[in-house]
Amino acid sequence: MTGQRVRLRPFETEDIKELQRWSNDPVSILLVGRAPQAYEQIERQIMSKRQKGDLLLAIENEENKLIGWVFLKDIEHEHGRAGIGILLAPEARGQGYGKEAMKAMIRIGFDQLRLHKIYLTTRGLNEQAIALYKKIGFVIEGKLREHAFCDGQYYDTYYMGMLKSEWQISNKS
Ligand SMILES: CC(C)(COP(=O)(O)OP(=O)(O)OC[C@H]1O[C@@H](n2cnc3c(N)ncnc32)[C@H](O)[C@@H]1OP(=O)(O)O)[C@@H](O)C(=O)NCCC(=O)NCCS
Repeated sequence: MTGQRVRLRPFETEDIKELQRWSNDPVSILLVGRAPQAYEQIERQIMSKRQKGDLLLAIENEENKLIGWVFLKDIEHEHGRAGIGILLAPEARGQGYGKEAMKAMIRIGFDQLRLHKIYLTTRGLNEQAIALYKKIGFVIEGKLREHAFCDGQYYDTYYMGMLKSEWQISNKS
C-alpha cells in the first residue's frame, strides 16, 4: 500500500528496536506514553496485539527507510469498526508523513477490511495530532474531562471518529 511518499508494509519483529526508540522519546512519552519501556515490555505488547488480530504496519519513506508505524486495533467486524493509532520517529515528524500514512491506512480499513467507522482517542494537549486528524476528516465525538495525567497536569481526552461515507465525501478525487 502506498501514499505519495510513504509505503506501508508489515511491521516485523526486527522493527521493535526502532519502535522502542520512538516510544522512549520524551515527546512521545508526554503525548502517548507513560514512562520509558524496556525492549521486552514492548515486544510483549506487540505479541499481544498480533494475537488479538490488530493490523500492524510499518511506514517507510521514499528512501525505504523505516520512519514509524500505524495500526488498526480492536477490529470488530460485527460492528464494522476499528481504532487507529500512529507513531512516527522523532526526526520524521512535521513533514506531512503522518497525514499520508494515516490516509493509506484508512483506505485499507474502508476499502479492504470493509469497515464502516474508524475512531481514535487523543490527549487534549496533542495539538498537532488533533489538527492532523481534523484535516483528514475526523470529527470530535466527545471528550472525557481531565482524563489523562501527563507531566504533572490533567488533560481532557478526545474521542474522534470518521464514517466511511464522510471519508468518501472528503476524498472524492
Ligand atoms: C502526530 C503525528 C502522527 C503527526 O504526523 P506528522 O507527520 O508529524 O504531521 P504532519 O506533518 O502531517 O502535520 C499534520 C498537520 O498538523 C498541523 N500541525 C503541525 N504542527 C502543529 C502544532 N504544533 N500545532 C497545531 N497543528 C500543527 C499542520 O498544520 C499539519 O497540517 P498541514 O501539513 O496540512 O499544514 C506525529 O507527529 C507523531 O508521531 N507524533 C508523536 C506521537 C503521537 O502524538 N501520536 C498520535 C497519538 S494520538
